[in-house]
Amino acid sequence: MTGTACRVCAAPLRTFLDLGDHPLSSAFLTPAEALDGAKDTVRYRLAAGQCERCALVQLTGNVPYERRPHQGYPYHSSGSAVMHEHFRAAGLHLLRTELHGARGALGVEIGRTDGVVLRTLAAAGVRPLAFEPSGRCGYGAARVRPDFLTAASAREAVAAEGRARVVYAANTVCDIADLPGLFAGLDELLTADGAFVFEDPYLGEIVRRTAFDQFYDEHRWYFTATSVRALAERYGFRLTGVERLPVHGGQLRYVLTRAGRRRPAPEVAEVLAEEEARGLTGPATLDAFAGRVERVRGDLVALLEALRAAGRTVAGYGATAKSCTVATYCGLGPHLVPYVCDSTPAKQGRVTPGAHIPVRPPADFAAPYPDYALLFAWNHAEEIMAKEQAFRAAGGRWILYVPEVRVV
Ligand code: TYD
Ligand code: ZN
Repeated sequence: MTGTACRVCAAPLRTFLDLGDHPLSSAFLTPAEALDGAKDTVRYRLAAGQCERCALVQLTGNVPYERRPHQGYPYHSSGSAVMHEHFRAAGLHLLRTELHGARGALGVEIGRTDGVVLRTLAAAGVRPLAFEPSGRCGYGAARVRPDFLTAASAREAVAAEGRARVVYAANTVCDIADLPGLFAGLDELLTADGAFVFEDPYLGEIVRRTAFDQFYDEHRWYFTATSVRALAERYGFRLTGVERLPVHGGQLRYVLTRAGRRRPAPEVAEVLAEEEARGLTGPATLDAFAGRVERVRGDLVALLEALRAAGRTVAGYGATAKSCTVATYCGLGPHLVPYVCDSTPAKQGRVTPGAHIPVRPPADFAAPYPDYALLFAWNHAEEIMAKEQAFRAAGGRWILYVPEVRVV
């Protein structure tokens, strides 16, 4: 099956995944809006394809991006102690590498974060600057440009601040529509030796874990070292570093520098060779992944229906964007998962997109504990299970569906 053309290089796309029609993953509704129905009509085809030329995996359905309720919920990594520490470590890593001995240098972050990276850079004497269209990035408003990074906004920043030694982004590039604009901005903004360092969900780990719930409207691109190398070269950059990260179910951090400035680190060739060997650049591996996704759906629905028939109580844990994909694709609703607990105040008291599962505060989890908890926030499994030890002690069991359905 082929779909539309690659949004980067215009070569044909080969569709390997079609999960049906889905609501926007951030469309949490008030109970009144859910009853009204009119607010709940936006659907898009959740399907993904791989470019036959540049290997970039991307969404192929026409996502109505302009209908997104807002640019997602404000990101609070501090809601997760592990993510807070991850971003502090990311800042320290940049200080040791790209910003070594660069007191007073300009360090830029793009995307909506809670400011941990920029605070870490600032504490070491780097001048922090953020590009974020909403103007909110968790760092002092005076240091935020309410713009995407493009050639025009970069020129303005350079006129005011000079060029940047490093531009960093986490969980941002995978949702940037205008990649040519981004690279034009990087070309204006970075010093000759400067680096663009970014991290996003890694297709290699999505496939390894059958983590089909990473597919939703806010992830347009599903990168590999192979596809990032091609992307960088298209715009005059080169992939010169990669680093595996354990967060969010497995990410890759990429270092891009201007063509001809640096030799690629040895890990780049290693990861590229591994991707080739695993077939991440061709159809068979992705088709096998799609087959495993169907099996997970069958197993999960069978388990939840059996628990319901046996009179067991079930709750969801973590009203993640990922849970929207799982609930919609598997047809889960309040009949199988009556409520989901989540620590995000803006989600509490609302219902989840499409499935209309009520979201309750984590305090409700213990009142009383369900027999089983379906862990939609599996990317925070260790942290949540540690926090909720009393649930296990009370006889509760976790249901996981990544990499396969199991009860622990
Ligand atoms: P996130 O990891 O951002 O995943 P996605 O991108 O799929 O939305 O979301 C994690 C969600 O889980 C977020 O809504 C907050 C919630 N959460 C808890 O309720 N308790 C916790 O201890 C943690 C770490 C997260
Ligand atoms: Zn392409």
